[in-house]
Amino acid sequence: MDFTGKVALITGGGGGIGRAAAVGFAERGAQVVVVDRDATLGQGTADILHQQGRDVRFIPADVSKSADVQNYVKATLDAYGRIDCFFNNAGIEGKTAPIMDYDEEMFDRVIAINLRGVFLGMKHVLPVMLRQGSGAVVNTASIAGLVGGPGMSAYIASKHAVIGLTKSASADVARFGLRVNAICPGPVDTRMMRSLEAQRNPEDPDAVIAANRAAIPSGRYATAEEVANLAIYLCSDLAGSITGTQMVIDGGRTGSAGSGVGLKPR
Ligand SMILES: NC(=O)c1ccc[n+]([C@@H]2O[C@H](COP(=O)([O-])OP(=O)(O)OC[C@H]3O[C@@H](n4cnc5c(N)ncnc54)[C@H](O)[C@@H]3O)[C@@H](O)[C@H]2O)c1
Repeated sequence: MDFTGKVALITGGGGGIGRAAAVGFAERGAQVVVVDRDATLGQGTADILHQQGRDVRFIPADVSKSADVQNYVKATLDAYGRIDCFFNNAGIEGKTAPIMDYDEEMFDRVIAINLRGVFLGMKHVLPVMLRQGSGAVVNTASIAGLVGGPGMSAYIASKHAVIGLTKSASADVARFGLRVNAICPGPVDTRMMRSLEAQRNPEDPDAVIAANRAAIPSGRYATAEEVANLAIYLCSDLAGSITGTQMVIDGGRTGSAGSGVGLKPR
């Protein structure tokens, strides 16, 4: 997986999965553009890559705002002239509450970032890739895009919609040589899971971690690097015929009715 001469644009590049992807793309030769709403986090990723001698830019942007999205696309083109890989990854978890109690403004915010942000990214990046005649997009959905669960209606709705958006975008551009896929991580060891664990049980977040692990056949969360590796693979030439699909990375969570916890060990 050699990305020499290629440009990778990563939204949410200051966060756990986005930062791991920025490091992974750069290690494989890509020029990297980090987009994030949080300037400290985004610049933090850029600083790490600078220290490694990599070619990187940070562009602050709120992905839910059209003007910001158009600006990060323009700034990337001004800096590097092309976009080969687009990891459309920024997202928020929102607040945990049953749908009866779910705050309307929070619902709109989750949809604006997780769904409208992914839509706007593709709306403005795909024309660049069409002009090039090549390019790959990876949208970050979740296993919350495949199954439901309590307390996360906005997040789950947004991630289901990201998968629909992925399939429709793929159908729009596949015949022009572009690929669009989604990834569906289960729990990943990042700030987002720390937030969800604390929301679920503020007194004892470790109990939530234990319960989550017990429901995963592999017995653990994925690492940000493992998830980044899947996104990088899907952007690579090795994935040349893969488009319009969603790939699950969840330690077996959604593939199994039970995790095996409590069974007599062999
Ligand atoms: N951590 C998990 O368990 C998990 C599981 C499945 C899917 N995901 C998805 O992976 C993606 C990355 O999450 P993460 O785990 O790295 O979490 P994270 O919170 O570490 O990273 C998310 C990043 O997105 C940025 N961001 C948020 N809103 C933004 C906006 N409006 N504009 C620009 N940037 C914005 C944040 O500042 C942060 O740097 C998200 O889409 C998330 O829904 C995470």
